[in-house]
Amino acid sequence: MGFIDEIKAKAKADKKTIVLPESMDKRTFDAAEKILKEGIANIVIIGTPEEIAKNGEGYDLTGAILVDPFNDPNKQKYIDKFVELRAKKGVTPEAAKEQMEKDYMYYACLMCKCGDADGVVSGACHSTGNTIRPALQLLKTKPGINSVSGFFLMEVPDCEFGENGLFVFADCAVNTDFDSPKLAEIAELSAESFRSFVGAEPKVAMLSYSTMGSAKHDDVTKVADAVKLVKEKHPDLAIDGELQLDAALVQSVADLKAPGSKVAGHANTLVFPSLEAGNIGYKLVQRLAKANAYGPVLQGLSMPVNDLSRGCYADDIVGVVAMTAVQAQVQ
Ligand code: ACO
Repeated sequence: MGFIDEIKAKAKADKKTIVLPESMDKRTFDAAEKILKEGIANIVIIGTPEEIAKNGEGYDLTGAILVDPFNDPNKQKYIDKFVELRAKKGVTPEAAKEQMEKDYMYYACLMCKCGDADGVVSGACHSTGNTIRPALQLLKTKPGINSVSGFFLMEVPDCEFGENGLFVFADCAVNTDFDSPKLAEIAELSAESFRSFVGAEPKVAMLSYSTMGSAKHDDVTKVADAVKLVKEKHPDLAIDGELQLDAALVQSVADLKAPGSKVAGHANTLVFPSLEAGNIGYKLVQRLAKANAYGPVLQGLSMPVNDLSRGCYADDIVGVVAMTAVQAQVQ
């Protein structure tokens, strides 16, 4: 069974309710039909009857919950919650209503916040920023977490590295400024994500262009300091760095550059030192190694919300919904 089939099986075992707010896109309906037929999750679609009739035409949506954001009996509850959460930011009931009607992502997050859904998947026709901003504003981070970050679960075919070709790569999607505490937090969250999605022990490599002090620069020190922070907090976690990518993956290089490291040569969780490196890194592996790149999956949010690539296919939405449902089970 491939990675995504295992995730679908887990999702089916304890069905969660996932909201798809992009009723303006036919791929939403294509995916919803597949999810409902396979029994992966309960599906809520937010859209007016006109949007649903136009874009959902021809799809079997039996079992889907259709929520009209203009005529929903629960709407006042969501407006009240929006105002309660954002009053300090100057959000009035009128502004809340307008925002929810204009941008269904806000509606979807409020459904989660009020306990009417377990997670959201969006982004087939919205940018990453516009997809995740409502979640950051309304759902916020889990207790004790400062920053949400985004990982890809990479499934690399015919690969002797990682956990039979499975890796977590982070942060590839969210944070544009990294300091040592933020990198340390990304590493901790990524280790947890690897454990819950792959079901194996994470071996976390904190990547750099230097291995164990071979280069001197503030960028290198930042990574080495992050490793110290994680080791202090989680002495049992297999984490090491700073490591170059070849030392992280290839045993013969690890023997030369990082002898004695428990992670070097065996890494399965790769934490990149910047968003540029993470975003370019996952796309290189996806394109050149023909890897499946599942994500970006957000980690650190109080409830699961996940983004899609705007070039995604309906099957990609199905996969991300299954991953979101599994995150909801854990949370
Ligand atoms: N974790 C937790 N909360 C956060 C984070 C974070 N990483 N970043 C911002 N926030 C919170 C802020 O504190 C703020 O809360 P508040 O409104 O209660 O005060 C709220 O989110 C909005 O923050 P802003 O800084 O005003 O929001 P901004 O418009 O800058 O958006 C965003 C934040 C969307 C994460 C931005 O940093 C961003 O666009 N990141 C890059 C996304 C991207 O383009 N990725 C690459 C493409 S993805 C791909 O290729 C798959």
